[in-house]
Amino acid sequence: MVFKSFSYRVYQYVLLHFMHLVKYQNKVISGKGTVYYIPNILKKQDIKKVLVITGPHIVKSAMFKNIISSFKNKGLICTIFYGTGSETDIKSAEAARSLYIKESCNAIVAIGGGSVTDCAKAAACGIAKQKKSIRSLCGYEKVRKLIPVIVAVPTTAGTGAETTACAVIKDVNGDKKIIADTKICPKYAILDPLMTENLPRDLIAYTGMDALTHATESYINKYSSKGSRKDAETAIFLIIENITNVYYGNGGIVSRQDMLEASYLAGRAFMRTSVGYVHAISHAIGGKYNLPHGMVVAIVLPYVLEWYGSGIDKKLARLSDISGISKNGMSGKQKAQTYINFVKILNQRFSINANFYKSLKKASKSHKTSKNDILSIAKSAIAEANPYYPVPKIMSLKECKHLVQKILRDSYTKANI
Ligand SMILES: [Fe+2]
Repeated sequence: MVFKSFSYRVYQYVLLHFMHLVKYQNKVISGKGTVYYIPNILKKQDIKKVLVITGPHIVKSAMFKNIISSFKNKGLICTIFYGTGSETDIKSAEAARSLYIKESCNAIVAIGGGSVTDCAKAAACGIAKQKKSIRSLCGYEKVRKLIPVIVAVPTTAGTGAETTACAVIKDVNGDKKIIADTKICPKYAILDPLMTENLPRDLIAYTGMDALTHATESYINKYSSKGSRKDAETAIFLIIENITNVYYGNGGIVSRQDMLEASYLAGRAFMRTSVGYVHAISHAIGGKYNLPHGMVVAIVLPYVLEWYGSGIDKKLARLSDISGISKNGMSGKQKAQTYINFVKILNQRFSINANFYKSLKKASKSHKTSKNDILSIAKSAIAEANPYYPVPKIMSLKECKHLVQKILRDSYTKANI
């Protein structure tokens, strides 16, 4: 394991220093009503025909209809694609690409959560590489060509997809694939709090906790830069300050704007540092039982932070201070534990533990998870994380198995509810 850990660290050191050098050309436009600026932004670049990609629920909303009317009133020709569900699959990305080409569009406007933006990114890669199937573009740096302009308008505050240079898409067999390429970051991110006005409570909690996890994992990872740490600190401060207000419908437009900014900053932070075992284990558990990503990361986060142990105390203590949750006179260790405990408090406050328990029970149709399930989850998590994620401490398969078992056992026994 010692030799393995050393080789992982060398790999991560080289990869992360390359990532810090990448300059993202992402322009952010923030504020109430900024979604209505889009026609002017595009017209300045001589873009007249756009493919608007959205989800099946959003397309029916009055807000979406108003936006499209305003686009048309300002002379923008819109073709609408809403064939993407809660997770983007290759089929819907291929369909979006075909529609774009058929209608001779010049840009894509993605209005929705992370899956909608990921669909736009995957379709745009396919448009840039028309002779290739989108499946063949999955992997790292396979596009390397200018893609059409993407304007991303998030309707959730969590994934950070409006600023990341990757897209997660599901293959026909259900496997998740990733397109990671420095060229696929949306050119414009519109952070308009009007777009998150009617977000259901559970989604506010799941997406907000996802953003908190992005920022936390980025912050504690090795090789984080001064800039990525600053983004992560601001994101964590804003999330802890606003998430409860937004969840209970208080705080109004200002709190929702802050959550959008936090999600964006957390996305920008983890683009430079990657995520860690919280995401690797959550992808494996979520994929196995088909559970919402944000729900699972919220559950897994405190377990992984506790597993890292004293090596991250200093960083968590600083996050605790920044967020205003530590008290005078506390030691560094106590402050670090306060941060972890605060995540647990949020999970209880937003009923995430109870929802996880119910969903897990329903998905696995029993009160127990088989040893085979635990092993396959652990194997998948380790394969995702090692050697790629520059985590504070390297986890072995055996350690991962124990941790997964603990997470699932506590959830099945309602230990955390
Ligand atoms: Fe995430």
